[in-house]
Parts: sequence; structure tokens; C-alpha cells
Amino acid sequence: MLSNSKCNLKNNEDLDLDNYPLVSIIIPTYNEEKTIEEKIKDILRQDYEKDKMEIIVVDSASNDNTVNIAKKLNVKVFQQSERRGKANALNYALKNVNGDIVIITDADSSWETLDTIKKAVIYLKKFGGVTCIKKVRNNSIESTYRDLYNVLRLGESCIYSTPIAHGEFLAFRRGLIESFNEEIGADDSSSSHEISLKGERFVAVNDIICSELVPKEGYIHWRIRRAKHLIQHFSRAIRDINKVKDKGYKKILIIEYYIHLINPWLLIIALSLDLISSFLGNIISLFLIFAFFISLLSSQIRTWVIMQFLLAISQIKNFFNKEIVWKKEKK
Ligand code: GDD
Ligand code: MN
Repeated sequence: MLSNSKCNLKNNEDLDLDNYPLVSIIIPTYNEEKTIEEKIKDILRQDYEKDKMEIIVVDSASNDNTVNIAKKLNVKVFQQSERRGKANALNYALKNVNGDIVIITDADSSWETLDTIKKAVIYLKKFGGVTCIKKVRNNSIESTYRDLYNVLRLGESCIYSTPIAHGEFLAFRRGLIESFNEEIGADDSSSSHEISLKGERFVAVNDIICSELVPKEGYIHWRIRRAKHLIQHFSRAIRDINKVKDKGYKKILIIEYYIHLINPWLLIIALSLDLISSFLGNIISLFLIFAFFISLLSSQIRTWVIMQFLLAISQIKNFFNKEIVWKKEKK
């Protein structure tokens, strides 16, 4: 894995202990009664001045016990009367934060170390925004996918910025994001792109690690929904290409657009042509198909191929429903 030291993301400055900035931590919730208590307690365990932390739960008309549980834990709770999606809820909360630094974190996620906030605050002296890399514990396809994707995120961050951010941990200096785009499911990634467009770097760092539970049921649907959101994000972000000043970030955007929107179809077309030509008796095509199936023995290649098919399906599904408001999966 790429190390931050190779590309000097790490800020050698330390935090001036008498001068901790106020950090507002926003947790968006919809029916999170199973996770919200542990999530808030987990944040309170962070090694950071408690009176410099403002925890805000923004709930969109949950019909379970989320709000009552949160209220008992002495955090600020904002309640929306209607569910209009995560980005809409974040915008509602963003208008009412006091912190110099804002951290967004999903209720069903956790942070690996107790100095996560501290590290983010130090990174934010140098960068506009920072996100985590992700660990998965309960699903092998997702875990292999994450390993591949973490390397990409870290590499992009070394070059300039990553255009993909994770709602499990997304920190930025207040003022860099006026609002989250409510038309794109990937509110997290679209905000990292917005920060980069403003000429500030948005980086994923390998010493801030977060984890989440993958749904036990409906994994494919969950993955397709997330892929749909990333496709919406890159279809939108590519239109900004002429506004991007950094050459490295320009390339990253084009490559990510290619990875998410074009490459899946190239694989499907190549496989189809090869299959047809094998049926017509072409020995070389037959050999290629055989080699393809052998390559699937590698878990990395297998995962990559599965993702290509899911991306193609997601593109088609996006025409019918963008899932800006989505169903809560069972974890
Ligand atoms: N207030 C509010 N309103 N919160 C919501 C809503 C809503 O309508 N919908 C979901 N949330 C909250 C959830 O309660 C959770 O805390 C967080 O947003 C993420 O939702 P999940 O249902 O856990 O979805 P996910 O883990 O697949 O989300 C991932 O992908 C999304 C884009 O597809 C994360 O990376 C999200 O940050 C990202 O937005
Ligand atoms: Mn989640």
C-alpha cells in the first residue's frame, strides 16, 4: 500500500493544545436505533477536548427510537418533519453548526483510533478536506474491492485530490462547503470535488481508518445503489473539467469517469465478441475465453469483473430511479 510519507501528506505541525478548534460532528440518521447510541459514545471516547466538540444528530422523520435515544445522550438533535434524503438533512444541519471544522459521519460506521479527530484537525491545517480509507470486516468481495479502492484513493491524494470521499468520515474547514448537492446520491464525493474545484486539496489518508458493516441481506442491491450514486457524481463532475486548474486532478477526473462509465462496457463488448467468435470456431478466441476464466481464480480480478457488471447495471438503473432517498438495508 502507498504510504503517506512517500508523498508527504502528513503535516508535521502538532496541535496547539491551548488552542483546539471547535469541531462540529454531524451524524445524519434515518432509523438508526440499533447504532446511534454506540456511535455517539464512540465519538465521546475520542481523545479531544469535550467542550470543543459539538455533536449534532440530524434525523429525517425516523419511525423508530433513534431520536429518543439521541436526546438522552445530551447531544444536539435536529428533527426534520419529512424525509428528503441524506444531503438535504446535512444541509439543514450545516446551517446551524458553530465549528470551524465540520465532520460528517454515518451512524453505522466507526473510526479505528481515538485520535481520529485530532489527526483530521492537523491535516486540515494543510488541506481543505480529509477522508478515511475503509476497512470491511464481514464480506470478502467488499473487502477485496476496498483494498483496491483504498490504493486508488491514496494514489489520487498523492497527486492532488481524490474525487471520492466517504460519509463514514468526511472532514472539512467550514466555509469550503456551502451546501451538499441534493441531486446527487453521492453527497460525500460531490463535496470533495467541490473543495478541489475551489483550489484546495481533498485527501484520503492512510492513518485515518473507518469501518462499516456490509448488509447481511441485499448486498448486491446496496452495492448497485452506491455505484449508481458514484456514476451520478462523475457524470456531473466531468462537466467541470474546464474549471479544474490542477493538471493532475484533471487527469484523475477523466480516469475516474472512464473507470465508472466506459470501462464496464468495453469489458462486456470484448467478452461478447470473444464468445461469438469462439462459437464460430476461432481457436484464439477460445483460448482467450479460457484464459479469462482462469484469471477469475484470482480474488482481485474476480472482484474487479463483478464490479464492472454491477457498474453497467447501475448505469441502466440510473435512468429509472436515482435513489436519492434509499431503503435502509439490514446489517
Ligand atoms: N437524516 C437523514 N435523512 N439521514 C439519512 C437519510 C435521510 O434521508 N438516509 C440515510 N441517512 C443516514 C443513515 O442513517 C446513515 O447514518 C447514513 O445516512 C448513510 O446511510 P446508509 O443507509 O448507511 O447508506 P450507506 O452506508 O450505503 O451510505 C454510503 O453511501 C452513500 C451514497 O450512496 C455512505 O458512503 C454515505 O455517506 C453515502 O451518502
Ligand atoms: Mn451505512
